[in-house]
Amino acid sequence: MIERADLKTIWLLGRPVEHSLSPLIQNRAIGHLKERAIYLAASVEPDDFEQVVRALPALGALGANVTVPHKIRAFEVCETTSERAQRIGAVNTLLFSDGSIRGDNTDGAGWWWSLPKEVHSLRRAVVIGAGGAARAVVATLIDNGFDEIVVLNRTVERAERLLTDLEAGFGTASLSSGTLASFPEHLETHTLVVQTTSVGLDGRGCPVDLPTQWPEGCYLSELIYGRSTPLFSRVRELGGEASDGLEMLCGQAALSLALWLGREPAEIPLELMRQAVQER
Ligand code: ATR
Repeated sequence: MIERADLKTIWLLGRPVEHSLSPLIQNRAIGHLKERAIYLAASVEPDDFEQVVRALPALGALGANVTVPHKIRAFEVCETTSERAQRIGAVNTLLFSDGSIRGDNTDGAGWWWSLPKEVHSLRRAVVIGAGGAARAVVATLIDNGFDEIVVLNRTVERAERLLTDLEAGFGTASLSSGTLASFPEHLETHTLVVQTTSVGLDGRGCPVDLPTQWPEGCYLSELIYGRSTPLFSRVRELGGEASDGLEMLCGQAALSLALWLGREPAEIPLELMRQAVQER
């Protein structure tokens, strides 16, 4: 029961949102930090999205997270956007201050921040998929000094378009695209493999074929969470290091919370957020 009248609100706007773990994660962290705030989720129709966003600053809300299907619309509604949101072309975090609406995107940086430190020294990546999540991942890899990035997708033209968009903006990394079938030939030692497609979400299907041996020093970051995908299980069986999408979920949540509360990312209890999901 909420009995206090001095709580600031933070919102999740998406459709559907009923199964989202964000309220669990965010309210656990907000409670730990003893902030007078509450994180609430609202299922919003695309036609109502802009009106809802414009009403929130008037209600005194601190900000909002935006998820499927509103991330691109959110980018358009914002008065100002961060450089990283501009690169990705989508917004997952809205900040309301002085009546203005600012947009940021913490998906890529949050994912990177929550990966184990040994992954941060890798310089070569193979990204599977070319949708919105892949765009955030590739922009983040370029930002973090990766020398070589290969994007593999079912529709190769979409991978090419993603690379052209990002290449035009910045960076000196060598970027190339290919088919999903070419995965084994791109899997060299010391490669970060990032799985961004929806394949495996239902526990079945693997977007790529794996070799019989997992090469030395390779790491799989599977962005699907909540279940072990066939790709994730197979890499672990081969003795490979891997993490699932819990890292991105918690990493982006922690960075967004730091922005709303005006705190340093290091102050946000990331481990507690992970634990909250694992308990569930
Ligand atoms: P998101 O924003 O979550 O990344 P998206 O933009 O819809 O979602 O992208 C989904 C990704 O999963 C795409 O790379 C898509 O490949 P296509 O560009 O060829 O559509 C990939 N994907 C979805 N279903 C797939 C399947 N059955 N086999 C292979 N790739 C699939």
